Amino acid sequence: MSTATLNVTTVKADFPLLGREVNGHPIVYLDSGATSQKPRQVLDALDRYYEEINANIHRGAYLIAEKATTAVEDSRAALAGFVGASAAEEIVFTKNATESINLVAHSWGRTNLSEGDVILLTTLEHHANIVPWQQLAAERGVVIRWIPLDDDGRLDLTDLDQLLDGVRLVAVSAASNVLGTLPPVRRIADAAHAVGALCLVDASQWVPHYPTNVADWDCDFMVFTGHKMCGPTGIGLLWGRRHLLDAMPPFMGGGSMIQNVTFEGFTPADVPTRFEAGTQPIAEIVGLRAAVDYLNAIGMEAIRQHELDLTAYAMRTLTERFGDDLAIHGPHDLENRGGTLSLAYRGIHPHDLSQVLDQHGICVRAGHHCAKPLMKVLGVNATARASLYLYNDESDVDALADGLAAAGDFFAF
Ligand SMILES: Cc1ncc(COP(=O)(O)O)c(C=O)c1O
Repeated sequence: MSTATLNVTTVKADFPLLGREVNGHPIVYLDSGATSQKPRQVLDALDRYYEEINANIHRGAYLIAEKATTAVEDSRAALAGFVGASAAEEIVFTKNATESINLVAHSWGRTNLSEGDVILLTTLEHHANIVPWQQLAAERGVVIRWIPLDDDGRLDLTDLDQLLDGVRLVAVSAASNVLGTLPPVRRIADAAHAVGALCLVDASQWVPHYPTNVADWDCDFMVFTGHKMCGPTGIGLLWGRRHLLDAMPPFMGGGSMIQNVTFEGFTPADVPTRFEAGTQPIAEIVGLRAAVDYLNAIGMEAIRQHELDLTAYAMRTLTERFGDDLAIHGPHDLENRGGTLSLAYRGIHPHDLSQVLDQHGICVRAGHHCAKPLMKVLGVNATARASLYLYNDESDVDALADGLAAAGDFFAF
């Protein structure tokens, strides 16, 4: 395990966009939960791909086509290593986490689930890990059940055994995009397996921030999205156990995903090609590999530690400065949360808050964060969310605190 520490000044300098000004202020980017900024290393990799080896993959028998194919398969192998997969074939490239979950819902779900089967979700889930299951439920008569939250915004697993009755699949986020909560994924996967169910992990808010190992979780499927981890948009990933992927029919049909096509029908290719219909986002796959190399060079353990320290600083600073005027939703103990801070400040509407912060160059997200069931449980329509990443430092947190104070003044409290 790397013990290197992260030099945030050097890291910041890698991200061209973080050098710009917004509304006359140096940008303070606190919306990495929505999408991360991209380092020069990733932008250069995209340029190099298009300038030097742009060609379609798995087709041409000429030099640049072979190089493009190799770049894609090297990226697959690098991603496998990054998440602890046992083979590159277990890595399926998709457009994003949303497509990965839809792939499992369509291909595994429609093959294996029927009326009365239960899918267990948690109250924390992003719509991406709710709606595909609701579509399946509406089509197949599958039942959806929910793991509730305790008062601190952690999963309440008191009744987990009862909730698991009849369950075929548990789908859980490894990290909440609203509360920062880090559910005990291994415990949930073990409980799922004990009743013969599978476990899908939505790791969209985990993989960018922590070392990832699917074997440690002992899950069956894991999904994430490239654009939140310094990679380009338009590229995501599904990892699945090989025997499960082997038994799943294709999600989409078309070019590239077949072994043979006749007038009568088709035979699908092996995994993962079976699930990668049509021309792939080749540049984005290459860009994602560059993002993995970038994060690995810094060290995921160093990133985890940096964010832990910064989250502690942010919670301390905001609490000391604003006291009861400011609420931070979700767990307050750092063992159970990451650097996603959903704020409620003096009754100011989150959209108003984010507009005033924007006047100070500060980017935070206001809204329901694609987690409307969770908003209902929290009793709010929206929150203002500041999310920290490897390129943020204490000066960003201080700017946020100054911006909040300015918003308080602006609304004349
Ligand atoms: C926890 C979680 N899951 C899934 C998604 C969906 O990601 P994408 O829109 O890239 O598919 C997000 C994006 O915000 C997320 O935060």
